[in-house]
Amino acid sequence: AFNLRNRNFLKLLDFTPREIQHLLDLSAELKKAKYNGYEQPRLKGKNIALIFEKTSTRTRCAFEVAAFDQGAQVSYLGPSGSQIGHKESMKDTARVLGRMYDGIEYRGFGQEIVEELGQYAGVPVWNGLTNEFHPTQILADFLTMMEHGRGKQLHEMKFAYLGDARNNMGNSLMVGAAKMGMDIRLVAPKQFWPEEALVAQCRDIAEKTGAKITLTEDVQEGVEGVDYLYTDVWVSMGEAKEAWAERIKLMLPYQVNMDMIKATGNPHVKFMHCLPAFHGEDTTVGKQLAQEYPELAQGCEVTDEVVESDCSIVFDEAENRMHTIKAVMVATLGD
Ligand code: CP
Ligand code: NVA
Repeated sequence: AFNLRNRNFLKLLDFTPREIQHLLDLSAELKKAKYNGYEQPRLKGKNIALIFEKTSTRTRCAFEVAAFDQGAQVSYLGPSGSQIGHKESMKDTARVLGRMYDGIEYRGFGQEIVEELGQYAGVPVWNGLTNEFHPTQILADFLTMMEHGRGKQLHEMKFAYLGDARNNMGNSLMVGAAKMGMDIRLVAPKQFWPEEALVAQCRDIAEKTGAKITLTEDVQEGVEGVDYLYTDVWVSMGEAKEAWAERIKLMLPYQVNMDMIKATGNPHVKFMHCLPAFHGEDTTVGKQLAQEYPELAQGCEVTDEVVESDCSIVFDEAENRMHTIKAVMVATLGD
């Protein structure tokens, strides 16, 4: 009944709730097939380009492993080493790569760039993160929520997203929740709420799907009774380092810590994060931050205690990036 063949996957706004559910169900099927040893390679002989203008661990590896599992080959084009954007326009790049590849993943800056690639490539283009949207991440998150849902369907779930609700994750989670009829609370300082136009678009969708969208600065109101707490970094890739000082002050009340877990009142609440996370761990950036800002000793957007607790399902999400990206490629490109 569903034919997503030759479709681009650029943002969830382009897909119906049933199409999104179909991609989630296909992800679960492919995951099961892999673990039970009956996965069928449906991308045999396909050549796939992976363009990354920003760094990545999960998304790159998810695309590569998914492609290999399905019998496809990949070429990785990193942030340096190609002509893209410096010496050659996206419109020309799209037409060149479209002649050689059967599908193209793109991670970069403005959404308009991946949209242009999708318009001119002539083969399926998949958004591996832009400043505005991270749609493959949402599929992984929703699959993970389904797995931990204790019998609940997506439309019966409530979750809070805390921190920078104006970034790619805040935007995409709001769109995804609107499409799937969920109860989402974006809990953030007002200047970090998503853009009005996108909120209005999501409220329109919500009217049809029964979704509930709440924007609030009030943490207690936002987290009360939720099934999931979700957060992301306070400063995203491509943003100025100078943003940190101001944001830390504004965002600290929205840090996911054990007190906030308790404030949900739900003993089964789970913690989610797209990763990478700053949680007081041993990284160069994490160390620098902790040195400069003593208030971050326990972690930044989330404390180490929460990430390491039984509430945390962040590594299930990370794994599910692979199964869901596989589903996107199989649905749009598979035999
Ligand atoms: N969550 C995510 O997209 O991770 P990477 O930046 O490592 O790809
Ligand atoms: N908001 C983050 C997400 C990383 C997966 C960023 O864009 O850096």
